Amino acid sequence: MKAKIAVTPGDGIGPEIVAEAVKVLKAVAEKYGHDLAMETHLVGGAAYDQCGDCLPEESLAACKAADAVLLGAVGGPKYDKLPGPQRPEKRALLTLRKELGLFANMRPAKVWAPLKSASPLKPEIIDSGLDLLVVRELTGGVYFGRHERAADGQSALDLMPYSVAEISRIARVAFEAARKRRGRVTSIDKANVLETSRLWRETVTRIREEEYADIELDHMYVDNGAMQLVRAPQHFDVILTENMFGDILSDEASQITGSIGMLPSASLRSDGFGLYEPIHGSAPDIAGQDIANPLATILSAAMMLKHSFGLTEESDAIERAVGRVLADGILTKDLGGTVKCSEMGQAVIERL
Ligand code: IPM
Ligand code: MG
Repeated sequence: MKAKIAVTPGDGIGPEIVAEAVKVLKAVAEKYGHDLAMETHLVGGAAYDQCGDCLPEESLAACKAADAVLLGAVGGPKYDKLPGPQRPEKRALLTLRKELGLFANMRPAKVWAPLKSASPLKPEIIDSGLDLLVVRELTGGVYFGRHERAADGQSALDLMPYSVAEISRIARVAFEAARKRRGRVTSIDKANVLETSRLWRETVTRIREEEYADIELDHMYVDNGAMQLVRAPQHFDVILTENMFGDILSDEASQITGSIGMLPSASLRSDGFGLYEPIHGSAPDIAGQDIANPLATILSAAMMLKHSFGLTEESDAIERAVGRVLADGILTKDLGGTVKCSEMGQAVIERL
């Protein structure tokens, strides 16, 4: 098959980790006879430095014209003083999500057997199972509601709107994902306080009754959900939640796997187009040292092959190769090893 990938390395460790994922994609394309055209574009602080805009028109247009986007990470202390709407997180990441219509954010979190001891949870909790998928609504809620500071500077507000249409489409994504996994969705909200959460709960319950009676559904308040994630993570299969709760819970979920450097993500719309990125950030403190862990980005590339291009076999092959790399004790610094970022892509390719 033939596809066009927009590659946007971004800031900090972004260029280093993306380079390794690109190597792996090229190797897969060669081995399986696919034509993957990859072109690099500026986003984030890197773009700001060159053209005074974290998301230049050219980059946005290139992402829109591609079949999928592979992103490293954006942001860094150097850009913290930019006004809110111009900052890399808002201007590059949130604008890309909104402009590309990427409403469904999939963040799988599982423990890789060779890395079990890295989890901060007790072994008996880990052994009972930790393999979950956070399905986070990505283009609504408080991230995209009105943000305002009063004229006198003494108060501010952030609105959190949600519509039945927005809740329904993300709920369906979660139920469909559960069908391919262990058949359970836990919807997380704050329905004891928030009106949007009450609408969320009603809508999710109705969609399950009407369309997904085969899927088990339970609801949790977000405070309890955060607690259950560390107390009994085996309870969770698919977590369905709104934008901000999903942001927080996915960081928590990633940490209990022991290594945020291992977790990929996909941000999708319903036609298969997607943006793929590691869930960790740009890690400016270790940028340029060749010690970052590129596996989350490599696994994000694997998600791209599966979700955007339907290349399940190729995607599984990358995942298996990553598993072997870990089993062989080839570990970057964050995992307790000494292997360089620039060596990891090759290590994965050798095991493909
Ligand atoms: C994430 C990040 C972003 C978010 C930031 C960088 C705006 O934390 O992708 O989880 O909050 O969505
Ligand atoms: Mg986050």
